[in-house]
Amino acid sequence: MGGKEGEASKSRGLFWRLLVLLIAALVVTTAVLTILRDFHYFKKHGVPSDHPINKKYADALEIALQFFDVQKSGKLVDNRISWRGDSGLQDGSEGNLDLSKGVFDAGDAMKFGFPMAFTATVLSWAILEYGDQMNAAKQLGYAQNSLRWITDYLIHAHPSENVLYIQVGDPELDHKCWERPETMSETRPIIQVNTSLPGTEVAAETTAAMAAASLVFKKSDPVYSNLLLMHARQLFTFADTYRGSYSISVPQVQKFYNSTGYGDELLWAASWLYHATGYESYLRYVTELNGQNFDNWGSTTWFSWDDKLAGAQILLSRIIFFGAKDIPTVQNLYLQMYRKTAEAVMCGLLPDSPTATSNRTDGGLIWVTEWNSLLHPVASAFLAILYSDYMLTSQTETLYCSGNSYKPADLRKFAISQADYVLGANPMKLSYLVGYGSRYPQYVHHRGSSIPVDADTGCKDGFKWLYSDNPNPNIAVGALVGGPSLNDSYSDTRNNTQQGEPSTYNCALLVGLLSGLLTTSSVAKSYT
Ligand SMILES: *[C@@H]1O[C@H](CO)[C@@H](O)[C@H](O)[C@H]1NC(C)=O
Ligand SMILES: *[C@@H]1O[C@H](CO)[C@@H](O)[C@H](O)[C@H]1NC(C)=O
Ligand SMILES: *[C@@H]1O[C@H](CO)[C@@H](O)[C@H](O)[C@H]1NC(C)=O
Ligand SMILES: *[C@@H]1O[C@H](CO)[C@@H](O)[C@H](O)[C@H]1NC(C)=O
Ligand SMILES: *[C@@H]1O[C@H](CO)[C@@H](O)[C@H](O)[C@H]1NC(C)=O
Repeated sequence: MGGKEGEASKSRGLFWRLLVLLIAALVVTTAVLTILRDFHYFKKHGVPSDHPINKKYADALEIALQFFDVQKSGKLVDNRISWRGDSGLQDGSEGNLDLSKGVFDAGDAMKFGFPMAFTATVLSWAILEYGDQMNAAKQLGYAQNSLRWITDYLIHAHPSENVLYIQVGDPELDHKCWERPETMSETRPIIQVNTSLPGTEVAAETTAAMAAASLVFKKSDPVYSNLLLMHARQLFTFADTYRGSYSISVPQVQKFYNSTGYGDELLWAASWLYHATGYESYLRYVTELNGQNFDNWGSTTWFSWDDKLAGAQILLSRIIFFGAKDIPTVQNLYLQMYRKTAEAVMCGLLPDSPTATSNRTDGGLIWVTEWNSLLHPVASAFLAILYSDYMLTSQTETLYCSGNSYKPADLRKFAISQADYVLGANPMKLSYLVGYGSRYPQYVHHRGSSIPVDADTGCKDGFKWLYSDNPNPNIAVGALVGGPSLNDSYSDTRNNTQQGEPSTYNCALLVGLLSGLLTTSSVAKSYT
């Protein structure tokens, strides 16, 4: 009996063990199938929209994007910033143009075309790669609207084939005043480049902005997209045919946004035009003589409003990562040079790579310049997250740096380190993104933010607000300030222009970086 009982309980035990095994097998199979399905899905569509969104970076992105609203000129629509109002409504009128839109460059009320176009290019790039996840974080609409606010301006700034207006406002006059844009009264002259005084880099950067934006609006507004592309192609011809630096044609820009050369912008513009049109002529442009002349293959550069080479190298690598099969062998060889250089840029950024740049603070921040020090770390981290995602999506497992091997996750880790530094994980325990976290700069060098809305001051007496001991009365939400010194310190004083002045291009780069960090993700294989 005992024996029978024993047999029965043994077989009951076996039954349960089999059941557990079966359930375990089912769980494992489901997991494997889910991974396979996601993998397949990723390959086809990029990020699934139900992918979990990282709250920290989504919160930061929501704040960063508001800076474009802080900087908007013109008759505002759906204004989100309570202390902002209409401004610059007459901008462009002396040339019978409507240049009222666009964004003010930084803490002043200037519209500088060169960095403004770069802002639009970067914002477009961010949307093209990470629009799905921006959408999941409910930020895509804001990003597109701000981009369009700038491209509307750029369209108006290009009234005929070989004329491009590159500046609204006189910086000398503007900087003699400390006033809200809503009440400014000094004259706002406009400056053009043309066939007799050309501006290759500014025309080419505007090309890049319009070509990239034409891809952003391709599905949602094909008419607008075609208009942008038409302007882009005309501007590229103008930039390329009448070669000359705008810094020489319009020397007054040297004090503000001096260009150290236009070769990089020509390559960058042609790269974007290639993505926007698929025309082989643009690919030939970057891979033949111009590539040899203008891309210093093998040597690394810092991506910025002045230097687009690293950006072009990564954008052109994209072609190899995702679809080089229809590309002629010769072009392919040249594209490999771009990719090799992009790899070298990445190897320089990875902190423990044999070729790691030494330009870092003890706190781990990439640090190259005293003025606007956050430009380079944020720009570098944006490129790193792009490259990491290109690797991931194309199933490229390894990046080699002088014999050491790295994974996409290593690049992502670097990008996160720079983003987290910006958001408060730094020796000052300070968030450099205004409005984010519990401690951020209170004395941002920004006219509108520093002057009470109801203050009755004009051009000159407004300076009392610059030198006031009180924190800014209006929060410049989303402003990414210039940034810390090499010793990781930051002095929060309003006249500290080099550390405390925000800019729209820094903000666009941060938007790209944060968008890339919203999920552990890949990117879409094609922009179209
Ligand atoms: C060309 O641009 C320069 C520089 O802005 C300007 O001084 C000049 O008047 C322009 N030429 C024409 C024909 O408009
Ligand atoms: C602007 O850049 C050009 C070309 O690199 C250089 O020759 C010139 O000295 C620079 N100007 C200023 C003010 O830095
Ligand atoms: C590092 O920073 C210094 C100081 O700004 C600069 O002179 C140098 O060119 C930088 N090095 C690199 C590799 O960019
Ligand atoms: C850090 O560097 C800045 C700029 O060089 C300097 O003004 C400041 O005194 C330094 N701070 C510390 C704590 O060393
Ligand atoms: C404010 O900064 C400017 C430029 O750095 C400088 O020329 C000026 O003397 C400063 N003013 C005061 C009151 O510190």
